[in-house]
This record gives sequence, structure tokens and C-alpha cells, in this order.
Amino acid sequence: MIRKALTIAGSDSGGGAGIQADLKTFASLGVHGMSVITSITAQNTYEVRAVFDLPLHIIEAQFRAVVEDIGVDAAKTGMLSNADIVKLVSSLLKSYNIPTVVDPVMIAKSGAPLLRSDAVDAVIRYLIPVATVVTPNRFEAERIVGMEIKSVEDARKAAKYIVEELGAKAAIVKGGHIEGDKSIDILYYNGKFKEFEADRINTKATHGTGCSFSAAIAAELAKGKTIEDAVKTAKEFITTAIRYGLNIGRGHGPVNPVAWVMIPAEKYRVVENVARAVEILEENGELIAPLIPEVGMNIVMAIPKPYAQNIDDVAGVVGRIVRFGKKIKVVGNIAFGASRHMAKAVLKAMEFDERVRAAANIRFDERILEIAKLLGFTTSFYDRSQEPLEIKNLEGATIPWGIEQAVKRAGFVPDIVYHRGDWGKEPMINIFGFTATDVAEKIIRIAKLYNNK
Ligand SMILES: Nc1ncnc2c1ncn2[C@@H]1O[C@H](COP(=O)(O)OP(=O)(O)OP(=O)(O)O)[C@@H](O)[C@H]1O
Ligand SMILES: [Mg+2]
Repeated sequence: MIRKALTIAGSDSGGGAGIQADLKTFASLGVHGMSVITSITAQNTYEVRAVFDLPLHIIEAQFRAVVEDIGVDAAKTGMLSNADIVKLVSSLLKSYNIPTVVDPVMIAKSGAPLLRSDAVDAVIRYLIPVATVVTPNRFEAERIVGMEIKSVEDARKAAKYIVEELGAKAAIVKGGHIEGDKSIDILYYNGKFKEFEADRINTKATHGTGCSFSAAIAAELAKGKTIEDAVKTAKEFITTAIRYGLNIGRGHGPVNPVAWVMIPAEKYRVVENVARAVEILEENGELIAPLIPEVGMNIVMAIPKPYAQNIDDVAGVVGRIVRFGKKIKVVGNIAFGASRHMAKAVLKAMEFDERVRAAANIRFDERILEIAKLLGFTTSFYDRSQEPLEIKNLEGATIPWGIEQAVKRAGFVPDIVYHRGDWGKEPMINIFGFTATDVAEKIIRIAKLYNNK
């Protein structure tokens, strides 16, 4: 049975925070998401242009419609705008006894107020006492508790106060706005503190962090997880969402809650494609064998942008593909991080054309180049003897430098980039394509003509 989570919050037309972030988060964590919209905001990455609070009876009707039919395993609240909405939502949650994460949203990332100042008292009096977990950021905790928060120690005091004095079951004071190279969240629950930390990510794309974080806790609670486990998963979830945040708009771009499912999904697709490409090469082993370089061949494919960031995001063949008598031998498994050279070549190519996610290397031979040109493949090259000393002395910098030279020379990412070698360096041809199977097919077309002397 699928678990059901409800968000009671505002709509963010920019899709970064609010209802939009919450539903993405619910879907990514595998629960059915439902929504009670409290306010409609006209909002983008840098400002809130207009706010329209929905009439109380419409808010209540949305709530009753879902509760009376579908049911709610856990809820979260976000923007509640005014004291009347706060009171209504508090009493509805209380009467149905729904486990609820209260995100006491007060100010948008752009600085616009989302809660009238006279409603803060209502949050403290009515909403916090019905909360399973309250998730204030630094400034919200300062306002709720009435103390300055500058350190983790202050955050501990505030979290404890929200539970012991204001009546929440648990409180987590978030560290996004508390200085330090770690972003540390302090949970107070059951008389104990627990810290959840992550390296601070240097990014502007943080619109919706608080919304996605509280929604993630609600999703995990809906699945029946304990408060500690829910927060632990939510912390990993939000760190991933921030790391792969979207640099769109001119202000704070949205975090990326679907990264949580997109990365594993794309990895699976890539492994399947590389496996198929390797199969194609093996089926044509005798044809391919003469094209295998001395150092062996690798065929690689990266997950798409913005997820492809380093060589661990590129899958290839462990131990490469080598010549074996008249045939070829695939040495190891297909794995991410298995290739350094070809992975770096692809990551560089993707900087110029993100569709080009796959590559393989074959032996250099003037006749192969001629055939490739005959087949209509575009080519470019780099000259290793032109490599600047500072690149030469930098471990692993040659290939990215070379690919960049070749791409700039062509004005686009060509099908083929070659170099004629250097002292102790085997000359090489790199074949690029959108997918690994694409690349394998290009190699076979070349091999057919090459063998057809
Ligand atoms: N730069 C960052 N790097 C890593 N984690 C971060 C960063 N900024 C925020 N976080 C984490 O994101 C979560 C949300 O915290 P934050 O304090 O930013 O909430 P918020 O201010 O309510 O966000 P919003 O303004 O979107 O409502 C917390 O787990 C926090 O530790
Ligand atoms: Mg917030």
C-alpha cells in the first residue's frame, strides 16, 4: 500500500519552493503527495510579486476532501500567511490527529514576508503544540524563542525550548544560515540532542531548501519511520537536492529534489547502454580486434548534466577491452569510475555539447582517419607537442586540454578527435557519440571498411 503525505502550503509559481517543491519531494521519496493550497504567490527566483490568500472555507474544503476519502499518513505545513489560516489548519490537524511537520515559514528566500507578523503568536500558541516536528531556520527560531542564535550551542537551546516550553514533540533548528563550513541541524527529541551535518555547498540555488527538507521528513514519517530516521534521510535528501540545484533565473535558483531518483535512474540507463555497446563490440570481435590500441580500448558513457560532475559519474569497462588472438576480450565489469582517460574526455566534451555523453578510443592509423572521413564523420585533432608545460606537469590534465583544443578548432564536438602521439605516448583516435551504442556502431562502420582491404 502506498503511503500518503499531505502538504498544506503556498503555491510558488516559480516551481522552486512551496507546494511545487513538496510534491516533487513526496514523489521522489515514493509516497503519494496531496496538497492543500493556502495562498497563491506570484513568485520567481528573486521576488514575490503578489500574494493571494485563499478563503478559509476553500482551505478547509481541500483538507476535508482528501482526509475523508484518501487519508493522510503524515502532513507538513509551510506558508500559512495569516493568523486565521494558522488557527484553522491547527484545529484541523488536531481533530484528525495527523503526524505533522511544521515548517514555520516566515520569510521567502528573496526576503519577502510570507507570514504576517501578528500571526507568529498564533503559530506559537496553536500550531507548534500540535507539531510532531518543528523545523525553523535560524531567523524563525530567533523569532519563536526570542533569543539570538549565532552558534550550534544557541541552536540547541532554541530546539530544547520549542519542545519543553512550547509543546512540540520534536524540534530541529536548521543550520543553513548559521556560519561554518558545515551546515549543522540540531534535533531535540525525547530529552536528547542529535546533530545532522553536511559539508556546506557553495551555491546560489537554495530556493526551496526548507520546503523540501520538511516535506522529506513528512514523507519518511508517512512511511512509518522514527523521527530520527526521518530526519537522517531528509538530511541526505536535501544535501543531494542542493548539490544538484538548478541555476535558472537571475536570483536563487530552485533546489533539485528529483536528483534523489534521477541519479540512480540515469546510472541504470547508462549501465544498460554501455552493456549493450560492449555486446555489440563482442559480437563483432574479429572485425574490431585490428582497431584495439596497444593500451586497450575503453567505451564509456556519462549520466546527463547537471548530474555528471566527475569521473565517478561515467561508466566504463574495468580493465578495458583488449586484443585476444583474433578476437577481443572484455576484461572486467561495467562500473562507474572504471575509466579515467575516456571519462575525462567525455566530461570535457560535455562542457561544449551536453548531448555528447559517450566515447571510445581506437588505434591510430592514417587509413582509419581516411575511412572515417569517407563515411562522413567530422574530425578534429590536438598536438601533444604543443601542450603547455603547466598542463604537462598537472596530473591528468592532458586529455581535457587536448579535447578542448580539438573542439575549439572544429567549433563543435566532432565525431572523432585524434592525436599523433608524443614521446612514449601512443597516438590515438577518440570516437564520440550521444550514447555508447552510438559509438559502438560508428566503430563497426569504420571496422567494416578497414577490414575490407
Ligand atoms: N549551502 C548549504 N549547504 C549544505 N546544506 C545546506 C545549505 N544551505 C542549507 N542547507 C541545509 O538545508 C536545510 C534547510 O536549511 P535552511 O536553514 O536553508 O532552511 P530555510 O532557510 O528554511 O530554507 P528556505 O529559505 O528555502 O525556506 C538544512 O538541512 C540545512 O542544513
Ligand atoms: Mg524556510
